[in-house]
Amino acid sequence: RDTLTLIGIESSCDDTAAAIVRDGPGGRQILANVVLGQTSLHADFGGVVPEIAARAHAERVDGCVAQVMRDAGLRFADLDGVAVTAGPGLIGGVLAGVMCAKGITAATGLPLIGVNHLAGHALTPRLTDGVDFPYIMLLVSGGHCQFLRVDGPQDFVRLGGSIDDAPGEAFDKVAKILGLPQPGGPMVEAEAVRGNPKRFALPRPLMDRPGCDMSFSGLKTAVLRARDGVIAQKGGLMRADRADLCAGFQAAVVDVFTEKSRRALDASPVATFAVAGGVAANQAIRGALETVCTVQGVRFLAPPLALCTDNAAMIAWAGVERFRAGGRDDLTLSARPRWPL
Ligand code: KG4
Ligand code: ZN
Repeated sequence: RDTLTLIGIESSCDDTAAAIVRDGPGGRQILANVVLGQTSLHADFGGVVPEIAARAHAERVDGCVAQVMRDAGLRFADLDGVAVTAGPGLIGGVLAGVMCAKGITAATGLPLIGVNHLAGHALTPRLTDGVDFPYIMLLVSGGHCQFLRVDGPQDFVRLGGSIDDAPGEAFDKVAKILGLPQPGGPMVEAEAVRGNPKRFALPRPLMDRPGCDMSFSGLKTAVLRARDGVIAQKGGLMRADRADLCAGFQAAVVDVFTEKSRRALDASPVATFAVAGGVAANQAIRGALETVCTVQGVRFLAPPLALCTDNAAMIAWAGVERFRAGGRDDLTLSARPRWPL
């Protein structure tokens, strides 16, 4: 079919989302896009609580679907399929989305297309900028950290990734260590601007190891030790100490991403290097990646932040790509907590 209009549903972490995407001669369009975050529901617990997330998804997902149908002014008969995140993610949340999608397909006869959440992130540059295969994608968020070479709609080569914490998780934990509010990434970045990145000698983990693997857990522990060192010496943490620790931590992350991105590009000559995930909002990291790309003569691409973080437009789009490749599911589609690309 020339034109495809799909609804996408996403509920794998702490955002309940639905979107409608159309692919046709007129281009690739997002007709509607709704994301309901849950930050306030989990705020008291210092992290996403799976049971609370699952319940909120179950309560809200139908409303999200109704909202995007209204926003786009469409009826189910106007759609060509229902794409849904089938994993990886928190199983209760994924189930809520899959059940909703199955309900729609059972009631309407529309095709059901299960989508890998990571494929959704990885294919986003094709929705936003029409990027051609192959390209490299650096996925950096609170839950993910990997370099992917994207060779086709269902053809991903993992070049490397974090062997422990995701970088966003590390930013959040560093914020916690320094008494800054959550989500920590933007707070740490704001403090780092005022700090001296050279005052504390923090490690650049796995820098000597060949390949693109990374590690952030030891770096976070090093920040904790440096903080305790300052407290032992001065009896407390001053504003400048906090800024210097943030700057040192961020500089270490920047150095790691710079080196590993260079290696990813060396290993796979491509025309485009794209980033996605909440951490891609960080100006220091983004600037460093942009420089690497300029030096290597590669196009640097960062889709709009709302499409870099969790959303359902990327799921609808990945559904379009999979549908065009002949991918379909039926009511036996299951939710998968783990699902490597
Ligand atoms: O992609 P995202 O919204 O959600 C998932 O993790 O799936 O990413 C959120 C993460 C959080 O850990 C947050 O602290 C981090 O991205 N983040 C940042 C910045 N903005 C958000 N990390 C560093 N610098 C930032 N400016
Ligand atoms: Zn995600």
